[in-house]
Amino acid sequence: MSSPLLEKSKVLGCFSSRILGRRAGRSKVTPNCVYFLENYKSSDKSCYIHHGAEFKTSPRVKARTVQSFYNQSAIDIAAAKPSVRLTPATILYSGKSPDGSHILRSAQYLHKELPVRLAHRVAGFRSLPFIVGCNPTILSVHELYIRAFYMINEYPQITDFETEKGFCELLQGLLEDHKDVVTDLAAGFRECRKHIENEELVRNFLDRTLTSRLGLRMLAEHHLGLHNENDHGHGNFVGIINVSMKLKDVIEKWADFVRQVTMHKYGKSPAIKLNGHINAVFPYIQAPLDYIIPELLKNAVRATIESHLDTSEESLPPVTITIANNDVDFIIRISDRGCGIPHHLLPHIMEYHFTTAGDSTDHRLDGGLFGQIMMEPTDGPASGPMHGFGFGLPTSRAYAEYLGGSLGLQTMQGIGTDAYLRLRHIDGKYESFRI
Ligand SMILES: Nc1ncnc2c1ncn2[C@@H]1O[C@H](COP(=O)(O)OP(=O)(O)OP(=O)(O)O)[C@@H](O)[C@H]1O
Ligand SMILES: [Mg+2]
Repeated sequence: MSSPLLEKSKVLGCFSSRILGRRAGRSKVTPNCVYFLENYKSSDKSCYIHHGAEFKTSPRVKARTVQSFYNQSAIDIAAAKPSVRLTPATILYSGKSPDGSHILRSAQYLHKELPVRLAHRVAGFRSLPFIVGCNPTILSVHELYIRAFYMINEYPQITDFETEKGFCELLQGLLEDHKDVVTDLAAGFRECRKHIENEELVRNFLDRTLTSRLGLRMLAEHHLGLHNENDHGHGNFVGIINVSMKLKDVIEKWADFVRQVTMHKYGKSPAIKLNGHINAVFPYIQAPLDYIIPELLKNAVRATIESHLDTSEESLPPVTITIANNDVDFIIRISDRGCGIPHHLLPHIMEYHFTTAGDSTDHRLDGGLFGQIMMEPTDGPASGPMHGFGFGLPTSRAYAEYLGGSLGLQTMQGIGTDAYLRLRHIDGKYESFRI
């Protein structure tokens, strides 16, 4: 008969190899990690099932779950360290070594850097007003960050390609676990809106959390890209950097996507036309564009359709995209004839949670129609169903600013709107930004 202690260690063993994931058999579970694992509440019940019996969370464990938000000395230590941010040019030109040592160096950098950034975010969650931080959805994201911190921080030193491979599997699992964070934060903050007195505090929190998440994901994906390149070779890419990105192709991909979704939901869609420097090719990171471009296009198409409900498809005014490229930056202008943004709404459009979706009383515009259009998942860094949260513009602007650029809107009430997305080149000739 096995002792209760042995039973417990078996439960933790099965739990830890499951959540520490795909490096089963090699997981080194340190006391801190066990402490965290004991307190980790997974939504996946199977983690708790052992020898056919459900492992029930006792009141004592529940109490420690709350304590675990306070008693995090490893997180405090990491949160006091500064983050080391790299320019894309450094990442791009840091050189590939034939023996693959650049991959080990990249993994070692992440192993040190990611816990620091995650700890900064945990500090951000802790500084939220109590009533906001207690919201269950926000709390679940807070827990995800604590969990990610321990999983990376407790990972053994990366000294060879075997440990590097295990680290990649860990990163891949975390990217997957965190993919709905933007939607969860949007839902969580919407749930506790009535308790929020200081709008600015929330805006700063969301700007920082979302941009830091973009940075974290770009770093993790970059490393996974380097790792896979070594195995398979990926012509145009160095990690996440597309060394000869044709902007026109990226825009056309998203124009097709938005048109398809719109056709499917309304049976009609405005044409999306492209002009300007359509042959521009330069190195860039496509991931943030894969979020921002569809968000701006969805807004332009939605405004066009909402303001032309009785117009046939052939007569719908097109959405026109103009590309301008120069040595310092590139600019994408998206122009629509969707009647513009009314004066009284203009000051609010960049606020998180500001949306007019669902405001219309026209039955053709009920939540069903517009609600569905944004439910189609995109595979950008902040993917997920995002309709009507009022997150498209503020998130896109935060991303653009993080990337050393800007997002501005010019509107002509009664005619239409121009969105200007301006982003700096990353080829190292001029100052860009740091990831
Ligand atoms: N091109 C546009 N023309 C007219 N109004 C616009 C345009 N772009 C944005 N708006 C207005 O700004 C509001 C906020 O836009 P935002 O993209 O942030 O949120 P949303 O589109 O309502 O929801 P989400 O993007 O989260 O699905 C919109 O609801 C709409 O009222
Ligand atoms: Mg939008």
